[in-house]
Amino acid sequence: MKLGLYPGSFDPITFGHTNVIERGLNVVDRLVIGVAINVQKRTLFTPEERVELIREAIPDSRVEVASFEGLLVDYARSQGADVILRGLRGVADFEFEFQMAQMNRRLGKGVETVFLMTGQEHFYVSSQLVREVASFGGNVHGLVPENVEKALLKRFEEQKK
Ligand code: PNS
Repeated sequence: MKLGLYPGSFDPITFGHTNVIERGLNVVDRLVIGVAINVQKRTLFTPEERVELIREAIPDSRVEVASFEGLLVDYARSQGADVILRGLRGVADFEFEFQMAQMNRRLGKGVETVFLMTGQEHFYVSSQLVREVASFGGNVHGLVPENVEKALLKRFEEQKK
């Protein structure tokens, strides 16, 4: 029984992420999606909202969604994760991911990082771009799950008031 931990900010979850989750479930038996709480980073959605959006978008009994604070490797250990899963979209992601994986290996003692290439139809999708496009009223249909699309519309409507 292999347990994977898929960490991220997920602000919000995109089809790039759901693609990694789907394919990750071919590699591990169960997946914990860890929504990182970073008080220094301003996010569009609260950790609770981000967790809820993922839960709604991924109704799969093999997937558990939770938020965590502190070091990723400590959370991975507390969950008994065998591997940390990350998606790679291309060379632009590589440098940061390589640094993080090396640091986590140093800190983590035993938790391996496994990279999955994001499906090519999702290569250009990022939470940051989705937020930006949606903030200017652009169409993000097909880039994020439907519940996220609705939540984005609502959040930017609220911000206009
Ligand atoms: O979706 P993101 O923003 O690329 O995810 C980055 C994340 C949350 C995986 C990373 O910032 C992280 O692991 N944060 C937890 C704190 C930590 O362990 N930092 C050291 C990583 S080397």
